[in-house]
Amino acid sequence: MRSLLFVPGDSEKKLEKGLASGADVLLIDLEDSVSAERKPAARQIAADFLKSNRDKSSPRLFVRINDLASGLADADLGAVMPSLPHGILLPKSNSGKDVTRLSAKLNVHEAHADAAEGSTRILAIITETALGTLSAASYPDASARLIGLTWGAEDLSAVIGARAVRDDNGRYTDVFRLARALTILGASAADVAAIDTVYINYKDDAGLALECTEAERDGFTAKLAIHPAQVPVINAVFTPSAEAVAQAQKIIRAFAEDPAAGVIGIDGLMFDRPHLRRAERLMGRVAAT
Ligand code: COA
Ligand code: MG
Repeated sequence: MRSLLFVPGDSEKKLEKGLASGADVLLIDLEDSVSAERKPAARQIAADFLKSNRDKSSPRLFVRINDLASGLADADLGAVMPSLPHGILLPKSNSGKDVTRLSAKLNVHEAHADAAEGSTRILAIITETALGTLSAASYPDASARLIGLTWGAEDLSAVIGARAVRDDNGRYTDVFRLARALTILGASAADVAAIDTVYINYKDDAGLALECTEAERDGFTAKLAIHPAQVPVINAVFTPSAEAVAQAQKIIRAFAEDPAAGVIGIDGLMFDRPHLRRAERLMGRVAAT
Protein backbone atom coordinates (compact mmCIF):
# COMPACT_ATOMS: atom_id res chain seq x y z
CA MET A 1 0.00 0.00 0.00
CA ARG A 2 1.76 3.10 -1.31
CA SER A 3 -0.94 5.36 -2.77
CA LEU A 4 -4.50 5.87 -1.52
CA LEU A 5 -6.64 8.01 -3.85
CA PHE A 6 -9.69 9.88 -2.55
CA VAL A 7 -12.65 9.80 -4.91
CA PRO A 8 -15.89 11.68 -4.14
CA GLY A 9 -18.49 8.92 -3.65
CA ASP A 10 -21.15 10.75 -5.65
CA SER A 11 -19.10 10.87 -8.87
CA GLU A 12 -19.48 7.79 -11.06
CA LYS A 13 -17.08 9.32 -13.55
CA LYS A 14 -14.28 9.84 -11.03
CA LEU A 15 -14.85 6.39 -9.54
CA GLU A 16 -14.32 4.84 -12.98
CA LYS A 17 -11.22 6.98 -13.51
CA GLY A 18 -9.92 5.94 -10.11
CA LEU A 19 -9.93 2.29 -11.18
CA ALA A 20 -7.39 3.03 -13.91
CA SER A 21 -5.29 5.45 -11.86
CA GLY A 22 -2.72 2.93 -10.62
CA ALA A 23 -3.59 3.70 -6.98
CA ASP A 24 -3.15 0.80 -4.58
CA VAL A 25 -6.29 1.85 -2.69
CA LEU A 26 -9.35 3.94 -3.64
CA LEU A 27 -10.89 5.86 -0.75
CA ILE A 28 -14.51 6.22 -1.80
CA ASP A 29 -15.55 9.32 0.10
CA LEU A 30 -18.92 9.79 1.76
CA GLU A 31 -17.64 12.54 4.07
CA ASP A 32 -16.18 15.98 3.33
CA SER A 33 -16.22 15.89 -0.48
CA VAL A 34 -19.94 15.02 -0.59
CA SER A 35 -22.57 17.65 0.30
CA ALA A 36 -25.35 16.82 2.78
CA GLU A 37 -27.94 16.70 -0.01
CA ARG A 38 -25.82 14.31 -2.08
CA LYS A 39 -25.05 11.82 0.72
CA PRO A 40 -27.96 9.45 -0.02
CA ALA A 41 -27.05 9.37 -3.73
CA ALA A 42 -23.36 8.87 -2.88
CA ARG A 43 -24.17 5.89 -0.63
CA GLN A 44 -26.07 4.21 -3.46
CA ILE A 45 -23.39 4.98 -6.08
CA ALA A 46 -20.66 3.71 -3.73
CA ALA A 47 -22.56 0.48 -2.99
CA ASP A 48 -23.12 -0.23 -6.70
CA PHE A 49 -19.50 0.57 -7.54
CA LEU A 50 -18.24 -1.76 -4.80
CA LYS A 51 -20.46 -4.59 -5.97
CA SER A 52 -19.13 -4.32 -9.53
CA ASN A 53 -15.47 -3.86 -8.71
CA ARG A 54 -14.62 -5.44 -5.35
CA ASP A 55 -13.38 -8.67 -6.93
CA LYS A 56 -10.74 -6.94 -9.04
CA SER A 57 -7.23 -7.64 -7.77
CA SER A 58 -6.42 -3.92 -7.64
CA PRO A 59 -7.14 -1.29 -6.41
CA ARG A 60 -8.38 -2.24 -2.96
CA LEU A 61 -11.65 -0.43 -2.25
CA PHE A 62 -12.15 1.41 1.04
CA VAL A 63 -15.02 3.72 2.03
CA ARG A 64 -14.53 6.86 4.08
CA ILE A 65 -17.66 7.03 6.22
CA ASN A 66 -18.75 10.08 8.20
CA ASP A 67 -17.38 10.24 11.72
CA LEU A 68 -18.95 8.42 14.66
CA ALA A 69 -20.33 11.64 16.19
CA SER A 70 -21.93 12.85 12.94
CA GLY A 71 -25.11 10.81 13.20
CA LEU A 72 -24.43 9.61 9.64
CA ALA A 73 -21.99 6.75 10.15
CA ASP A 74 -24.61 4.02 10.66
CA ALA A 75 -26.48 4.96 7.51
CA ASP A 76 -23.16 4.95 5.62
CA LEU A 77 -22.26 1.49 6.92
CA GLY A 78 -25.79 0.19 6.32
CA ALA A 79 -25.55 1.25 2.69
CA VAL A 80 -22.06 0.02 1.81
CA MET A 81 -21.39 -2.99 4.04
CA PRO A 82 -23.67 -5.38 2.11
CA SER A 83 -21.32 -4.76 -0.85
CA LEU A 84 -18.33 -5.73 1.32
CA PRO A 85 -15.70 -3.02 0.88
CA HIS A 86 -12.16 -4.16 1.64
CA GLY A 87 -11.99 -1.58 4.39
CA ILE A 88 -13.38 1.51 6.10
CA LEU A 89 -11.54 4.80 6.60
CA LEU A 90 -12.66 6.39 9.86
CA PRO A 91 -12.29 10.19 9.96
CA LYS A 92 -12.03 12.36 13.09
CA SER A 93 -11.07 9.44 15.28
CA ASN A 94 -10.75 10.62 18.88
CA SER A 95 -8.86 7.58 20.15
CA GLY A 96 -8.41 3.83 19.79
CA LYS A 97 -11.82 3.49 21.46
CA ASP A 98 -13.47 4.86 18.30
CA VAL A 99 -11.71 2.17 16.26
CA THR A 100 -12.91 -0.47 18.73
CA ARG A 101 -16.49 0.88 18.43
CA LEU A 102 -16.31 0.83 14.64
CA SER A 103 -14.94 -2.71 14.74
CA ALA A 104 -17.94 -3.85 16.84
CA LYS A 105 -20.31 -2.34 14.28
CA LEU A 106 -18.44 -4.12 11.48
CA ASN A 107 -18.85 -7.46 13.30
CA VAL A 108 -22.61 -7.06 13.01
CA HIS A 109 -22.53 -6.01 9.34
CA GLU A 110 -20.20 -8.88 8.45
CA ALA A 111 -22.52 -11.35 10.16
CA HIS A 112 -25.49 -10.01 8.16
CA ALA A 113 -23.50 -10.26 4.92
CA ASP A 114 -22.21 -13.75 5.71
CA ALA A 115 -18.63 -12.48 5.57
CA ALA A 116 -15.78 -13.68 7.76
CA GLU A 117 -15.56 -11.70 10.99
CA GLY A 118 -12.63 -9.29 10.81
CA SER A 119 -12.34 -9.34 7.02
CA THR A 120 -13.09 -5.61 6.70
CA ARG A 121 -9.97 -3.60 7.49
CA ILE A 122 -9.82 -0.20 9.21
CA LEU A 123 -7.72 2.90 8.52
CA ALA A 124 -8.12 5.89 10.84
CA ILE A 125 -7.45 9.60 10.50
CA ILE A 126 -6.22 10.46 13.98
CA THR A 127 -5.39 14.19 14.01
CA GLU A 128 -8.61 15.91 12.94
CA THR A 129 -9.60 16.78 16.50
CA ALA A 130 -7.48 18.13 19.35
CA LEU A 131 -8.34 15.13 21.53
CA GLY A 132 -7.59 12.72 18.71
CA THR A 133 -4.18 14.26 18.15
CA LEU A 134 -3.38 14.01 21.85
CA SER A 135 -4.55 10.36 21.86
CA ALA A 136 -2.15 9.10 19.21
CA ALA A 137 -0.76 6.54 21.67
CA SER A 138 -4.15 4.83 22.16
CA TYR A 139 -4.22 2.62 19.04
CA PRO A 140 -2.30 -0.51 20.11
CA ASP A 141 -4.89 -3.28 20.68
CA ALA A 142 -7.79 -1.09 19.46
CA SER A 143 -8.69 -3.71 16.85
CA ALA A 144 -6.98 -6.44 14.84
CA ARG A 145 -8.70 -4.84 11.83
CA LEU A 146 -6.56 -1.71 12.06
CA ILE A 147 -3.89 -1.59 9.34
CA GLY A 148 -2.89 2.07 9.18
CA LEU A 149 -3.07 5.54 10.68
CA THR A 150 -3.08 8.80 8.80
CA TRP A 151 -3.44 12.46 9.60
CA GLY A 152 -5.12 15.61 8.35
CA ALA A 153 -4.29 19.27 8.84
CA GLU A 154 -7.37 21.08 7.54
CA ASP A 155 -9.95 19.85 10.03
CA LEU A 156 -7.51 20.31 12.90
CA SER A 157 -6.83 23.91 11.84
CA ALA A 158 -10.56 24.59 11.97
CA VAL A 159 -11.03 23.17 15.47
CA ILE A 160 -8.01 24.90 16.98
CA GLY A 161 -8.71 28.20 15.20
CA ALA A 162 -5.48 28.39 13.19
CA ARG A 163 -5.68 30.71 10.17
CA ALA A 164 -3.15 28.68 8.17
CA VAL A 165 -1.47 25.29 8.40
CA ARG A 166 1.81 26.37 6.75
CA ASP A 167 4.14 29.32 7.33
CA ASP A 168 5.35 31.78 4.69
CA ASN A 169 8.02 29.30 3.57
CA GLY A 170 5.47 26.54 2.99
CA ARG A 171 6.48 24.53 6.07
CA TYR A 172 3.77 23.16 8.34
CA THR A 173 3.57 25.19 11.56
CA ASP A 174 4.28 23.55 14.93
CA VAL A 175 0.90 22.05 15.74
CA PHE A 176 0.72 20.35 12.35
CA ARG A 177 4.31 19.14 12.49
CA LEU A 178 3.46 17.67 15.88
CA ALA A 179 0.35 15.99 14.46
CA ARG A 180 2.45 14.54 11.64
CA ALA A 181 5.10 13.24 14.06
CA LEU A 182 2.48 11.79 16.43
CA THR A 183 1.01 9.86 13.50
CA ILE A 184 4.39 8.24 12.79
CA LEU A 185 4.84 7.38 16.47
CA GLY A 186 1.25 6.23 16.98
CA ALA A 187 1.40 3.98 13.93
CA SER A 188 4.70 2.50 15.02
CA ALA A 189 3.38 1.86 18.55
CA ALA A 190 0.35 0.09 17.06
CA ASP A 191 2.52 -1.72 14.50
CA VAL A 192 0.47 -0.45 11.55
CA ALA A 193 1.31 1.62 8.46
CA ALA A 194 1.95 5.35 8.80
CA ILE A 195 0.26 7.12 5.89
CA ASP A 196 1.08 10.74 5.06
CA THR A 197 -1.68 13.27 4.48
CA VAL A 198 -2.86 14.85 1.20
CA TYR A 199 -0.94 17.43 -0.78
CA ILE A 200 -3.72 19.72 -1.94
CA ASN A 201 -1.81 21.60 -4.68
CA TYR A 202 -2.51 18.85 -7.21
CA LYS A 203 -0.85 20.61 -10.14
CA ASP A 204 2.50 20.92 -8.34
CA ASP A 205 4.25 17.60 -9.03
CA ALA A 206 7.64 18.87 -7.83
CA GLY A 207 6.21 19.99 -4.49
CA LEU A 208 4.43 16.66 -4.13
CA ALA A 209 7.59 14.69 -4.94
CA LEU A 210 9.54 16.64 -2.31
CA GLU A 211 6.84 16.06 0.31
CA CYS A 212 6.79 12.32 -0.55
CA THR A 213 10.57 12.08 -0.26
CA GLU A 214 10.54 13.74 3.17
CA ALA A 215 7.65 11.54 4.29
CA GLU A 216 9.41 8.35 3.19
CA ARG A 217 12.61 9.51 4.90
CA ASP A 218 10.72 10.08 8.16
CA GLY A 219 8.93 6.71 8.34
CA PHE A 220 5.72 7.04 6.34
CA THR A 221 5.20 4.14 3.92
CA ALA A 222 2.30 5.59 1.90
CA LYS A 223 0.54 8.85 1.06
CA LEU A 224 -3.01 9.99 0.46
CA ALA A 225 -3.83 11.42 -3.00
CA ILE A 226 -6.66 13.63 -4.22
CA HIS A 227 -6.02 13.57 -7.98
CA PRO A 228 -5.03 10.71 -10.35
CA ALA A 229 -1.98 12.71 -11.51
CA GLN A 230 -0.53 12.40 -7.99
CA VAL A 231 -0.58 8.59 -8.01
CA PRO A 232 2.50 7.88 -10.16
CA VAL A 233 4.55 10.43 -8.20
CA ILE A 234 3.57 8.79 -4.90
CA ASN A 235 4.09 5.23 -6.16
CA ALA A 236 7.56 6.10 -7.47
CA VAL A 237 8.76 7.45 -4.13
CA PHE A 238 7.17 4.77 -1.92
CA THR A 239 8.28 1.79 -4.02
CA PRO A 240 11.53 0.65 -2.38
CA SER A 241 14.42 1.09 -4.85
CA ALA A 242 16.33 -1.93 -6.19
CA GLU A 243 19.34 -0.59 -4.30
CA ALA A 244 17.45 -0.42 -1.00
CA VAL A 245 16.07 -3.93 -1.52
CA ALA A 246 19.53 -5.35 -2.29
CA GLN A 247 20.97 -3.70 0.82
CA ALA A 248 18.12 -5.01 3.00
CA GLN A 249 18.64 -8.53 1.65
CA LYS A 250 22.35 -8.27 2.41
CA ILE A 251 21.65 -7.30 6.03
CA ILE A 252 19.05 -10.04 6.52
CA ARG A 253 21.39 -12.63 4.98
CA ALA A 254 24.33 -11.57 7.15
CA PHE A 255 22.31 -11.90 10.37
CA ALA A 256 20.80 -15.22 9.21
CA GLU A 257 24.31 -16.61 8.66
CA ASP A 258 25.35 -15.54 12.17
CA PRO A 259 22.20 -15.74 14.32
CA ALA A 260 24.05 -15.11 17.58
CA ALA A 261 25.51 -11.82 16.36
CA GLY A 262 24.24 -8.59 17.82
CA VAL A 263 26.27 -6.51 15.44
CA ILE A 264 27.99 -7.14 12.11
CA GLY A 265 30.07 -5.24 9.58
CA ILE A 266 29.14 -5.06 5.89
CA ASP A 267 31.25 -3.12 3.38
CA GLY A 268 32.88 -1.14 6.19
CA LEU A 269 29.61 -0.12 7.87
CA MET A 270 28.24 -1.27 11.20
CA PHE A 271 24.79 -2.88 11.38
CA ASP A 272 23.00 -3.95 14.54
CA ARG A 273 19.55 -5.26 15.44
CA PRO A 274 17.60 -2.04 14.66
CA HIS A 275 19.08 -2.15 11.15
CA LEU A 276 17.87 -5.75 10.81
CA ARG A 277 14.39 -4.69 11.94
CA ARG A 278 14.40 -1.87 9.36
CA ALA A 279 15.54 -4.26 6.62
CA GLU A 280 12.77 -6.71 7.51
CA ARG A 281 10.17 -3.94 7.45
CA LEU A 282 11.33 -2.88 4.00
CA MET A 283 11.08 -6.45 2.70
CA GLY A 284 7.60 -6.65 4.23
CA ARG A 285 6.60 -3.61 2.17
CA VAL A 286 8.04 -5.18 -0.98
CA ALA A 287 6.05 -8.35 -0.37
CA ALA A 288 2.85 -6.32 0.14
CA THR A 289 3.01 -4.43 -3.18
N1 COA B 1 -10.39 10.51 -8.65
C1 COA B 1 -10.67 10.10 -9.90
N2 COA B 1 -10.71 10.93 -10.96
C2 COA B 1 -10.42 12.22 -10.74
C3 COA B 1 -10.10 12.70 -9.48
C4 COA B 1 -10.10 11.80 -8.39
N3 COA B 1 -9.82 12.17 -7.14
N4 COA B 1 -9.85 14.01 -9.56
C5 COA B 1 -9.98 14.35 -10.85
N5 COA B 1 -10.34 13.28 -11.58
C6 COA B 1 -10.57 13.22 -13.01
C7 COA B 1 -11.48 14.33 -13.47
O1 COA B 1 -12.82 13.91 -13.39
C8 COA B 1 -11.03 14.58 -14.87
O2 COA B 1 -11.60 13.61 -15.71
P1 COA B 1 -11.88 13.94 -17.28
O3 COA B 1 -10.54 14.20 -17.90
O4 COA B 1 -12.53 12.69 -17.78
O5 COA B 1 -12.77 15.14 -17.29
C9 COA B 1 -9.53 14.30 -14.81
O6 COA B 1 -9.33 13.47 -13.68
C10 COA B 1 -8.71 15.54 -14.67
O7 COA B 1 -9.19 16.28 -13.59
P2 COA B 1 -8.96 17.86 -13.46
O8 COA B 1 -9.75 18.57 -14.50
O9 COA B 1 -7.49 18.11 -13.42
O10 COA B 1 -9.51 18.19 -12.04
P3 COA B 1 -11.02 18.57 -11.65
O11 COA B 1 -11.16 20.04 -11.70
O12 COA B 1 -11.98 17.75 -12.42
O13 COA B 1 -11.09 18.09 -10.13
C11 COA B 1 -10.82 18.14 -7.78
C12 COA B 1 -10.32 18.71 -9.12
C13 COA B 1 -9.91 18.63 -6.67
C14 COA B 1 -12.27 18.59 -7.53
C15 COA B 1 -10.75 16.59 -7.87
O14 COA B 1 -9.40 16.24 -8.10
C16 COA B 1 -11.31 15.82 -6.70
O15 COA B 1 -12.51 15.61 -6.62
N6 COA B 1 -10.43 15.30 -5.82
C17 COA B 1 -10.83 14.50 -4.69
C18 COA B 1 -11.41 15.36 -3.60
C19 COA B 1 -11.70 14.58 -2.35
O16 COA B 1 -12.12 13.43 -2.38
N7 COA B 1 -11.45 15.19 -1.19
C20 COA B 1 -11.64 14.56 0.08
C21 COA B 1 -10.35 14.23 0.74
S1 COA B 1 -9.36 15.61 1.14
MG1 MG C 1 -11.98 16.34 6.64
